[in-house]
Amino acid sequence: MLLAHLLQLRGIESVVLETRSREEIEATIRAGVLEQGTVDLLNEAGVGERMRREGMPHEGVILRFGGQSHRIHLSELTGGRSIMVYAQHEVIRDLVKARLDRGAPILFGVKDVSLLDLDTRLPKIRFHDAEGATRELACDYVAGCDGFHGVSRPSIPSRLRQEFTRIYPFGWLGILVEAPPATEELIYAYHERGFALVSTRSPQIQRLYAQCNPQDQPGAWPDARVWEELHARLAGNDGFELTEGRIFQKGVIAMRSFVVEPMQHGRLFLAGDAAHIVPPTGAKGLNLAAADVRTLAQALEAFYAGGRTGLLERYSETALRRVWRAEHFSWWMTSMLHRFHDESPFHHRLQLSQLQYVTGSRAAATMLAENYVGLPFGDN
Ligand code: DHB
Repeated sequence: MLLAHLLQLRGIESVVLETRSREEIEATIRAGVLEQGTVDLLNEAGVGERMRREGMPHEGVILRFGGQSHRIHLSELTGGRSIMVYAQHEVIRDLVKARLDRGAPILFGVKDVSLLDLDTRLPKIRFHDAEGATRELACDYVAGCDGFHGVSRPSIPSRLRQEFTRIYPFGWLGILVEAPPATEELIYAYHERGFALVSTRSPQIQRLYAQCNPQDQPGAWPDARVWEELHARLAGNDGFELTEGRIFQKGVIAMRSFVVEPMQHGRLFLAGDAAHIVPPTGAKGLNLAAADVRTLAQALEAFYAGGRTGLLERYSETALRRVWRAEHFSWWMTSMLHRFHDESPFHHRLQLSQLQYVTGSRAAATMLAENYVGLPFGDN
């Protein structure tokens, strides 16, 4: 949706094919933290109005361990950069509205999508539309923004792609709660019983996560168990008290790291989860997707404005530099903050030492802060 919007601003036509319905994509709960660069990109693209009104800027983030909170002052450590808490489905709503208001096409509810002739000058997309009719769309380029389970990545012949994967032996139970915020800033907590995260969605709704078994069904977590775990993992002697409320949504998120190289083949360009997955710790998924399409929009602009294909040829190389930085950061945050089932007391001590260093050393805190708010976009 963001790519289509960025292209439209440059006078480049596109058609968005969406397998789900508008209602579904606008209601699916995902992450909620926007990097500074994503905020800037949405503002520059003219779709930041509601985000500026309803989003919550945060200048710091809390790491909690040993019963105490330690603040990382993001904006002070990064020359004034910060993050915005604004849910991904709200970004989607703003982008869908911007596109439909301009009368630009989104085809919802399409099925059986296949990509053809990608290594020719006239690639095609064949699909069934919402009415079940078979349709074929011919175009100059295909942007594969169809997620980890989409058809785009497997359309690159397997001998031409290399995949890198790491599966983590835990997941996150995520809940939405009707309650006022318990904290002004996000809390990432490391505890012997496992990781916990206190985030927010609005003054009335909070978003909380707890490390769990990746095979757990939400039913394995009755409300009483959820609260008992969260209280235990966030306990301390500094007066912090989690606010309880009615839990109205529960889900389990699996955790993996994944990258495909290259992120392009012929006239197909992959962006977002179609090309890479990060574990959620650090909230990089949406932000990486936004960075990918920013790069891709610039490359397509160079082609349509002046026939230059250099940026398109280098798309994968350019995108992968940021992708691997975010992969490392997400893996590092995940490793520092979770309990591993095969973990020894030695490993536990190492994690505590790392947390003390990150919260005690300005140099180490700066490393976390600049990755967390997102590195500035390079000249690409
Ligand atoms: C949220 C999700 C994350 O993965 C994270 O690191 C911080 C916040 C959220 O959903 O609010």
